Amino acid sequence: MKILITGGAGYVGSNVVRLLTESGHQVVVLDDLRQGHRDAVPCVPLVQGDVADPEAVQRAHELLPFKAAVHLAGDCLVGESMRHPERYYHNNLVSSMKLVQHLRDLDVHRLVFSSSAATYGEPQSVPISEEHPTRPSNPYGETKLAFERLLHWQHGAHDFRSVSLRYFNAAGAGFGGEVGEDHDPETHLIPRLLAVALGKEPTFEILGDDYPTPDGTCVRDFVHVEDLARAHLLVLQALEGGSQGGVFNLGSETGYSVRQVVQQAREVTGSDIPVDVGPRRAGDPPSLVASSRRIREELGWKPVLGQLRDILTSAWEWHQRRPDGYGARG
Ligand code: UFG
Repeated sequence: MKILITGGAGYVGSNVVRLLTESGHQVVVLDDLRQGHRDAVPCVPLVQGDVADPEAVQRAHELLPFKAAVHLAGDCLVGESMRHPERYYHNNLVSSMKLVQHLRDLDVHRLVFSSSAATYGEPQSVPISEEHPTRPSNPYGETKLAFERLLHWQHGAHDFRSVSLRYFNAAGAGFGGEVGEDHDPETHLIPRLLAVALGKEPTFEILGDDYPTPDGTCVRDFVHVEDLARAHLLVLQALEGGSQGGVFNLGSETGYSVRQVVQQAREVTGSDIPVDVGPRRAGDPPSLVASSRRIREELGWKPVLGQLRDILTSAWEWHQRRPDGYGARG
């Protein structure tokens, strides 16, 4: 297959690029390099540009006449989305809508969309299946959901087939700890914990310990980024084979509290990792744990690197190997 990967130089994107190329597919990356890193995708063609820009999409198509796209470009921080909702509507919804138009202009009618568990909001019950009501509690989740709905209607109107993958908490480093996470600013739990273990930060702050959960800290479902990448390949193959598309959760189906992750990170790194307890972060739901039954049953996906300890070990390898990440942005 020949595939466009928007946001392919980012954390999840670079793992998808690596997996697809190792599986014999051809890819071209479109990334504005605001969060992505050219060094994360050293051996594939890359167009630096915006998904909303028809010329950038056209340039990518000239480099590789792709027939399908994986759309990962976008902003993905819950807290930031609460402070700057307009930015999320613009970057995640308006720009994505323009991308769909450019793809259709190029006669590309298949898309895999990087969506999020944030589309569910505060769950009424866990594990969360795809039938669970979607009531996002932040603009990040709201804009992901709005684009999912646009894709749904594109199918009927234009025979544009798509799959939205609702990631739970992507974590770990793929390919033996070689393809990892490097954000600026870094707000995610595991890299922040490991920054303390590396001595880059003095303490780790638990953002709230008064949630209605067993130990008072939030519960999350961590899924290894390489397992996520494999799901993209399965879905692309299904679309190629005529699948009509839809929505799939991607999680390991096991919840860990922030305190449990801290404890396991101490064991994996051999570091004390001192912690403080701070206030809650706006927009954080108390507990998010997936049911991934639909994609297991329909496409045979299951997380094979799914244990939290393996996830932490691979992330620790990455952070020790590259304590400053990829270096300068771009
Ligand atoms: N946390 C801390 N201290 C920190 C950082 C995080 O206690 O320094 C806590 C958060 O409050 C939260 C948990 O760790 O309870 C996980 O936080 P992350 O920022 O790592 O991840 P989120 O759950 O907020 O968000 C991630 C993705 C989103 C996705 C969401 C779905 O970044 O794209 O999972 O749950 F929408």
